[in-house]
Amino acid sequence: MNQDFIPWYLRQEIVESYESWYQGPDGQRMDRLEKKVLRSLIEPLAPKNLLEIGAGTAHFTRWFEQELGLSMIGLDLSPLMLAEARKYWDGMLIQADAAALPFVDKSFDAVAMITCFEYMPDPIKVLREASRVARRGMIIGLMNRWSVATLRRRIQELMGKNPFYKNAHFYSLPEIQQLLKQALGDRIAEVRWGSTLFPKGIPIETARLPFGNFLGLAVHLQEVHDGTIPRGAG
Ligand SMILES: C[S@@+](CC[C@H](N)C(=O)[O-])C[C@H]1O[C@@H](n2cnc3c(N)ncnc32)[C@H](O)[C@@H]1O
Repeated sequence: MNQDFIPWYLRQEIVESYESWYQGPDGQRMDRLEKKVLRSLIEPLAPKNLLEIGAGTAHFTRWFEQELGLSMIGLDLSPLMLAEARKYWDGMLIQADAAALPFVDKSFDAVAMITCFEYMPDPIKVLREASRVARRGMIIGLMNRWSVATLRRRIQELMGKNPFYKNAHFYSLPEIQQLLKQALGDRIAEVRWGSTLFPKGIPIETARLPFGNFLGLAVHLQEVHDGTIPRGAG
């Protein structure tokens, strides 16, 4: 990658308009559908507290707190995104890299990563870190590689018309499932998933469709007893 490349989340002029995207018609619709998928995935994990990695402007952080009643900490690499977040939320926000979380093992019931995992250059390390600090499991929300919306994003990016995805890797359902297995091995008890659909005007909004716009996964973790290293996760 070009040495001069600066990701959008470290560029003030882009960061300051990030939250306003959620107010437009597409943003509002996507937000509503993504929250529907996330809610259905998180409820069986029944966390009381949650670490949100890549929390950005705390858009979902405050929803988790206000709508689902969770005790929240938001974490992000970008000081600019965290400064924006502070305009909307007065909870605990921490600047750190997802690949080196500043928490002891099993600090949280669960961990969430929503449309941020795509930007992380060492995904195996990030999954191991997230599972290290989580007792019960994690929720991952992704822009599905196999969706019409991502095809459009990739074409725009190739044409130099979209600054958002130059350093992003888009995952398909089989790819993220394989990565989870590789990173966490037998620590995984169960993986559930759901997706939003993309066409407007159809009555079904969410479904289990590998071509859906947004993929949500809930990774339920096995209990780890102190001193044991789960097979395949070393
Ligand atoms: C598309 S935004 C998503 C923000 C929020 N989760 C949402 O859905 O509105 C991606 C976020 O990931 C953060 N990020 C990128 N790499 C990261 C890393 N290595 N560790 C922590 N956060 C990171 C960026 O700073 C940015 O705020």
